[in-house]
Amino acid sequence: MIAVLVTNTKGGCGKTTIATNLAAAFAASRLTTALANVDRQRSAMQWLAARPSRLPAIRGLDWRKDIGEVPDDVQRLVIDAPAGLRLRQVDQLLTEADVVLVPVQASAFDVDSTRRFLDRLGELKPVRKQRKGVFLVANRVRPRTRASRRLDQALAELGHPVAARLADRALYAELAATGLGVFDVGGSVAVEARREWLDLVHAVEDSLA
Ligand SMILES: Nc1ncnc2c1ncn2[C@@H]1O[C@H](COP(=O)(O)OP(=O)(O)OP(=O)(O)O)[C@@H](O)[C@H]1O
Ligand SMILES: [Mg+2]
Repeated sequence: MIAVLVTNTKGGCGKTTIATNLAAAFAASRLTTALANVDRQRSAMQWLAARPSRLPAIRGLDWRKDIGEVPDDVQRLVIDAPAGLRLRQVDQLLTEADVVLVPVQASAFDVDSTRRFLDRLGELKPVRKQRKGVFLVANRVRPRTRASRRLDQALAELGHPVAARLADRALYAELAATGLGVFDVGGSVAVEARREWLDLVHAVEDSLA
């Protein structure tokens, strides 16, 4: 099994969007996939509840109270962490994970709080000893804007590889409400978006190869 923890103490940076779409990407490639919801807001669970039964199934794990068991047959686990976690809680989730994804948006607020989060994350032994890969995911990117150039500069200074750059797309809000991911729908926007997601999937798989 490969377990991916999506986390950043910063709220609204795209953790649930990334966790749900990544789970859908794994499921679309016929891997037995589970999505663990740690957030009291239950966003990932709501997304799963809306997921049509005709689509590749994703198992929901409710980890709001405690970290639970992962069924033996699960091949890919995606953990959707909430904002504002304490370092101790991040440390507990880290023990379950092979790879950590940290979404970051372009604003200085996002970059600054992500930098602080990464500093604290770096204090945790598995990260300090480089036993777990930590990747940044640039989110809500608007290509060829000043903001995206500033983000690129900031990402280079954050000291972790960038697994993917996900563009800002209205499609994500629609998908969030319907239990779908960009791998579950047709249309040119989804096709374009999937290219960005494949970067992310490959970064995760390659980091463990
Ligand atoms: N790439 C994107 N393009 C457009 N909208 C996006 C993108 N990523 C996230 N969003 C939107 O931004 C909002 C916040 O995203 P999301 O809920 O995934 O963040 P979060 O980090 O899980 O938030 P929280 O900290 O509250 O758990 C949502 O409305 C989502 O649809
Ligand atoms: Mg969330």
